[in-house]
Amino acid sequence: MNESDQMQRTVYCGEVNEELAGQTVVLTGWVDRRRDLGGLIFLDLRDREGIVQVVVGHGSGDTLDTAKSIRSEFVVGVAGKVVERTPDTVNPEIATGTVEVQASEIRILNEASTPPFPVNEKAEVAEETRLRYRFLDLRRPRFQRNFRLRHRVGLEVRKLLDEEGFIEIETPFLTKSTPEGARDYLVPSRLYAGHFYALPQSPQLFKQLLMISGFDRYFQIVRCFRDEDQRADRQAEFTQIDIEMSFPSMDTVFTLVEMLMSRVFDLVGIELTLPFPRMTYGEAMSRFGTDRPDTRFGLELCDLGDCFRETPFRVFRKILAEGGAIKGIRLSPGASYSRAQVDKLRDVTAIYGAQALSWIRCDTEGLKTSFPKVVPLAELQAACAKAEAESGDLVFIVAGKPSVVHAALSGLRLHLANQLELIPADRNDFLWVYDFPLVEWSDEQQRFLSLHHPFTSPLEADVALLATDPGAARARAYDVVLNGMEIGGGSIRIHRPELQKKIFDILGIADDEANAKFGFFLEALRYGTPPHGGIALGLDRLVMMLAGEKSLRDVIAFPKTARAMDLMCGAPSPVTETQLKELHIKTR
Ligand code: AMO
Repeated sequence: MNESDQMQRTVYCGEVNEELAGQTVVLTGWVDRRRDLGGLIFLDLRDREGIVQVVVGHGSGDTLDTAKSIRSEFVVGVAGKVVERTPDTVNPEIATGTVEVQASEIRILNEASTPPFPVNEKAEVAEETRLRYRFLDLRRPRFQRNFRLRHRVGLEVRKLLDEEGFIEIETPFLTKSTPEGARDYLVPSRLYAGHFYALPQSPQLFKQLLMISGFDRYFQIVRCFRDEDQRADRQAEFTQIDIEMSFPSMDTVFTLVEMLMSRVFDLVGIELTLPFPRMTYGEAMSRFGTDRPDTRFGLELCDLGDCFRETPFRVFRKILAEGGAIKGIRLSPGASYSRAQVDKLRDVTAIYGAQALSWIRCDTEGLKTSFPKVVPLAELQAACAKAEAESGDLVFIVAGKPSVVHAALSGLRLHLANQLELIPADRNDFLWVYDFPLVEWSDEQQRFLSLHHPFTSPLEADVALLATDPGAARARAYDVVLNGMEIGGGSIRIHRPELQKKIFDILGIADDEANAKFGFFLEALRYGTPPHGGIALGLDRLVMMLAGEKSLRDVIAFPKTARAMDLMCGAPSPVTETQLKELHIKTR
């Protein structure tokens, strides 16, 4: 067939409607399904806009013969008349269900091998197979929808940021490491033996340099690369809406992000309430045990330490003496939970390192508990009172290192909420979490690590603590959280070289190491750096939430598996000896 044989589409399949009744249209698309009733053949023809039913049988014999040879996923062109269906043949499941197209001509534009799985939405297919044949998977209407949404989100973000005076500037991919807490993907240099580029974990230093260069307001929709363990909400390469501005306050950043979120949620018909609530890190940890609380439901933590200060129960006394915590969650009603059910919950808290999950059950006959007899009734009663537990309630208690207690109870809280279906599906709870600690102690590395990154400024009021108790200093850092997921994070930066050096000292980064890693940046800081700050929003996570999906893979066209593999192209893959030699690399 030459090019002039190509049928010129007049309308998308999904857009055929009653207004076109009586008209002749030309459609092009993929055959979703073919039903052969002998003298009559029905083809469900699919394109990116949807599906329409084509009826073959009224045209020439040739057309019917052609239709007989058609299989699923063949690419065809159809010319035919749009007719309204009789009421008894209307298909309410598709948008074009009130009409059909009576084919007068059909051309097979291309054949297709039998696909490894049916391309329609209803088929349950193992994800591995779907990823291996991603190009077919993406034909499904769900993905067509998701990627158009993603496109529109990108457009809206660019439009708003442009209106607000931001300019998009690209920064390098072949660069030097920027510490964001993950491993780098390295790219060996051919020209400099033993030297490597790092793919950026984020454009952090470049965007700060652009502020030093006077651009005032920068943004970039940019790919970032992090070699870290993959999860449903993490990919090795992902996209940030990266933003930086000069002379901002925290409020400037918050207001901008709220505007941005409000505009993109508008795209899916959701009106957000602005401004978003704010909570300090301290409050988030104490009420929810996490810095990204899902505030759509209760089950908040309560501190029961005071109830057990004088306890004869040695385990608890030791935990408190060592600076540990005893906290609980009240489940109301919960007294009907069986022992077996509670045991299952113990498995949940054990994932986070909790040694035990204790409980007190309040019912009309009094208190029942998992605690040993040495714990006096008065202490149990005090704990119930503190947890505001009444008859019919169950109080779960975890004791241990505060980080373990928080993680375990926060995990338990989410687990219970999912199990008991306590999370309202139609809520979008945004939350700002701020005043994070600047650094946290790593037992493993025996040094302080930045909680955000080392370019984050401490709170003015806490600068003095840097010399005496760095672990207690708070940072001008913030996260934006949506329904318990971190959508973005940022900070007001350090703009004075002396302070930056002090932070490196606290982090145990020696001068020569700092110079080797960030010398260019430390030098730039000395040439008139404006106060500046910004944020980066995870575009994939945002689109995932907007699309109502549960995995980033559903909003990334060619994603990687949990083991960071691209199953379709088979990356990563071995390379030739010649390539390795050119790159001065020997593999072990
Ligand atoms: P941060 O590391 O918090 O900050 O990243 C910002 C946002 O990027 C998203 N994100 C990810 N999304 C998918 N997969 C991943 N592996 C992944 N890692 C992060 C999250 C996160 O909130 N340079 C700083 C920003 C700044 O200070 O301005 C940064 O990258 O939604």
